[in-house]
Amino acid sequence: MPIIAPSLLAADFARLGEEIDSVRAGGADWLHFDVMDGLFVPNLSIGIPVLESVRKHTDMFLDVHLMIREPGRYVRRFAEAGADLICLHVESDTEENIRAALREIRALGKKAGLALKPGTPWDAALPFIEETDLILVMTVEPGFGGQKFMPDMLPKLGYLQDTLEGFGLECLLEVDGGIDPLNAALSVAAGARVLVAGSSVFKAGNRGEQIALLRGRPAEGGNS
Ligand code: DX5
Ligand code: ZN
Repeated sequence: MPIIAPSLLAADFARLGEEIDSVRAGGADWLHFDVMDGLFVPNLSIGIPVLESVRKHTDMFLDVHLMIREPGRYVRRFAEAGADLICLHVESDTEENIRAALREIRALGKKAGLALKPGTPWDAALPFIEETDLILVMTVEPGFGGQKFMPDMLPKLGYLQDTLEGFGLECLLEVDGGIDPLNAALSVAAGARVLVAGSSVFKAGNRGEQIALLRGRPAEGGNS
């Protein structure tokens, strides 16, 4: 069964604690935390102080997605603020600096993730494949919630899945952007193990039901 990671970007920030409790009660596995710097992506979001507050509120696994330039500058601070996994973009710095940042994340005792924008080919992850615990395939252009899923990203998942299997690596594949129950199933079939979902969870009338649908089964009490 896939891991479901609601993206807090779609939550009501004035009621963040209750929003977290509600998706947890609805069966979410992880929380996805989007950090934007207005440079790597044309938008700003939340950062270290908010992550510290979230960490104090919950023991859920915190999946931190850094959409920032030269992310290595902040890896240690996000680790100290409570991230369990820190994911940085392959496009956000030089190969040397990306490698150093991934190693630092692991040295800090956290899981290291590598994200690919839609226009970045799957094999851009290859030089780092043994140094990552998760590869995030963006299924929208990073920067904004509520966009439409790009189905042409599915083959990218397939190539990565075949490669990881070929090397016998445990690395998880994650999809992020426009995920709904239908394309969730397609993503899982193509190799995704972690599904990030912002709008589709937080805007749902019944979040627990929506999380169950994303996972590929009806909510408890429904027919299986
Ligand atoms: C986009 C973010 C996503 C976003 C997903 O840059 O990385 O995590 O919050 O939101 P939805 O599910 O609404 O596309
Ligand atoms: Zn994200």
